[in-house]
Amino acid sequence: MKKFTAIILVLTGLLLAGCAGEEQKAESAQKTLVMGTSADYKPFEYIDTANGREIIGFDIDIAKRVLDKMGYKLEIKNMDFNGLIAALNSNKVDFVMASMTPTEKRKKSVDFSDIYYVANDAIVSKKADNIKAVDDLKGKKLGIQLGSIQEETAEELKKEVEGMQVTARDTIPQLIQEMKAGRIDAAIVETTVSKGYLEKNEGLTEFIIEDESEVQGAAAAFPKGSDLTEQYNKHLQEMKQNGEIDELAKKWFGGE
Ligand code: ARG
Repeated sequence: MKKFTAIILVLTGLLLAGCAGEEQKAESAQKTLVMGTSADYKPFEYIDTANGREIIGFDIDIAKRVLDKMGYKLEIKNMDFNGLIAALNSNKVDFVMASMTPTEKRKKSVDFSDIYYVANDAIVSKKADNIKAVDDLKGKKLGIQLGSIQEETAEELKKEVEGMQVTARDTIPQLIQEMKAGRIDAAIVETTVSKGYLEKNEGLTEFIIEDESEVQGAAAAFPKGSDLTEQYNKHLQEMKQNGEIDELAKKWFGGE
């Protein structure tokens, strides 16, 4: 009898301990949302190398503020752009902010918030190479970031430009590096991002691609059917209306 009671007590104890653990977990999980990003995209998201390893940028500031209003803390997971949607769909991250464009194709596997920023694409190249229009890409090697919409734009261009090759890299800094080293002739980069590289590299130049079919907006991405999308959107809208987004754009893009 004594033994039996003891066992019951131990079991109850274990059960209670188990429950408390679960509850605690649920509580802390509720307080933090994990955001996936690809921190190779200054000024949207990049590693602040001057001050350590922290990831900063326009997207990060927006995410922090929206999550704050929603009552969550932000945790960031950095990865290659090409792996973001898979990370979202395998629950490795709760949402994604990576200056990601809400394309029809992506909408098949994830939900998007409203667009919070619109951009243009440019062809960046070395001044010395005299690439001033799409036609000048004949026989050239054009670089793009793997998994980006620029990849699709490049495939389209390939159809009209004779002998042009397309080559993909995981990150934007890699593309710029390869271009400087002469292994790539040009790269498609959004103007907001290319600006920083052009400022730092005297030898680089760009022209804007005019005839693009899809709007180049950035939006936050969520797993299909997530309740978070609507909450996120509500606060994003508020921030658009009360000038907070404009203020952040000024901070990161210098008043464009
Ligand atoms: N807007 C483009 C896209 O959605 C490029 C985004 C790249 N973002 C990044 N963090 N590298 O495909």
